[in-house]
Amino acid sequence: MKESNYIKLEFPSRSSNESFARAAAAAFAAQLDPTLEELGDIRTAVSEAVTNAIVHAYPDTIGRILMRLRILNGNVLEIMVKDFGKGIENVEEARKPLFTTGGSERSGMGFTIMESFMDKLRVRSVPGKGTTVVMQRAIRLRVGKR
Ligand SMILES: Nc1ncnc2c1ncn2[C@@H]1O[C@H](COP(=O)(O)OP(=O)(O)O)[C@@H](O)[C@H]1O
Ligand SMILES: [Mg+2]
Repeated sequence: MKESNYIKLEFPSRSSNESFARAAAAAFAAQLDPTLEELGDIRTAVSEAVTNAIVHAYPDTIGRILMRLRILNGNVLEIMVKDFGKGIENVEEARKPLFTTGGSERSGMGFTIMESFMDKLRVRSVPGKGTTVVMQRAIRLRVGKR
């Protein structure tokens, strides 16, 4: 069986860490030789998930965020973003396009973007305990690859 690869990161929910998480995810994904488009999709999905943990999970405090990336079956990238914050009362409702509890500066499109840019999106949440988002995206093997 092929050894799989992974990274785990932990960081506080400071907004300055959002761009770091995005860049780290892209750097890890690079080993799958993604196209620029695939890389852009991954960066955007990570950005949405991490931003949610920063702004919604810990609205008034700084809390812990875990991010784990791993490679499954050779060419599937799995991204997990986990927080220990506020949690979501109704995940089904929260996943709907335009649903937001964030007021006028939030679009309510974060989960919709994650869902459309990735192949799979799973959201588990316990109010008062936290939220875990797991996303998967297959990276196509390209012809003429080095
Ligand atoms: N990590 C999280 N912790 C707590 N609530 C969350 C989290 N992620 C999402 N939510 C809830 O789900 C809603 C929808 O999220 P999203 O689709 O990203 O839209 P937006 O962030 O623009 O509100 C948020 O407004 C918030 O109520
Ligand atoms: Mg959002």
